[in-house]
Amino acid sequence: MKFLVTGGAGFIGSHLTEALLKDGHEVSVVDNLSTGSMENIAHLQENDNFYFYEGNILDYKLMLKLITSCDCVYHLAAAVGVKYVLENPLTSLVTNVRGTEIIFELANIFEKKVFLASSSEVYGKNGSGALREDGDRILGPVSVPRWGYSVSKAFDETLALSYHKIKRLQVVIARFFNICGPRQSPNYGMVIPRFVQQALKGEPITVYGDGKQTRTFTYIDDVISGIRMLMDNPDAGGEVFNLGSTQAITIEELARKIRELCGSNSEIIYVPYQEAYSEDFEDMLYRVPDITKMTSLTGFTPKTSLDTMLKSIIDYHRKIIR
Ligand SMILES: NC(=O)c1ccc[n+]([C@@H]2O[C@H](COP(=O)([O-])OP(=O)(O)OC[C@H]3O[C@@H](n4cnc5c(N)ncnc54)[C@H](O)[C@@H]3O)[C@@H](O)[C@H]2O)c1
Repeated sequence: MKFLVTGGAGFIGSHLTEALLKDGHEVSVVDNLSTGSMENIAHLQENDNFYFYEGNILDYKLMLKLITSCDCVYHLAAAVGVKYVLENPLTSLVTNVRGTEIIFELANIFEKKVFLASSSEVYGKNGSGALREDGDRILGPVSVPRWGYSVSKAFDETLALSYHKIKRLQVVIARFFNICGPRQSPNYGMVIPRFVQQALKGEPITVYGDGKQTRTFTYIDDVISGIRMLMDNPDAGGEVFNLGSTQAITIEELARKIRELCGSNSEIIYVPYQEAYSEDFEDMLYRVPDITKMTSLTGFTPKTSLDTMLKSIIDYHRKIIR
């Protein structure tokens, strides 16, 4: 089959592209390299089935060309990372809203199945236990950019569901909860690569807030399997699925674990959110998915333990650190 992966030079997109190529498919990637990089896909350039287009998903003509010539679209391109979104609120919104609109419009006209990468950010600060797909979204004021990102991803989902309902477009939506692995950049607010780089460089490990907030982390290989299980399952069409691990850890514990696995003497320091981000920054104490829906339909469960994923990420950063 011929696949189009938007954001394929990014962290998740590059791993997905690799997996599709490994199965003998043809893959075109479109990426504007805003948070992705050529290094992520350098090892794929030799593959005759791989095509890279440096460009923007907002470029209608380019997207028309790419969508007409593929069988199926994995839409991963988006403004990503709390830090990036706070620093680029307008670009983030336009990319996530207008970009996705273009993709769904064209996929509908040319009848191509679409996968949409959504985010646990749609739940906002709902902290009422394990989050189910039909759970409430609880957001703060419109003036806080983080909630704008949440709104943009929720808009994408609503658009996808509406295209499915009204036009019968085949769409599958996954809400990712903190995915991690090699090639994830430390530069846009993702906690694991940031802690690993700080620990390996012997710099202070900076925990934002009091470190008592919990998160779950899912390894990239598990996520790629999950995405493909969903796309191969005809009953996943027109549905939203949480995709992540249910094993929570506090950020403070995570910092200690990374320091230990790196064999580092870095000091762990606590930085107030207001200093790390902005005066009006809001975070949630607890964010864990309920993955019953995904597991019941596909049999998916994350297989990689936190220690195994951290060791693999640390090995990767040891090699690339300059
Ligand atoms: N990594 C996570 O933990 C996580 C969590 C929730 C949701 N997601 C979603 O998964 C998807 C992939 O995220 P990722 O972690 O791989 O991040 P990433 O930043 O590595 O990948 C996003 C890619 O999209 C590209 N891109 C951004 N704007 C573009 C545009 N206008 N045109 C073309 N390309 C553009 C970037 O250059 C980058 O390569 C995103 O949709 C993101 O919202 C990721």
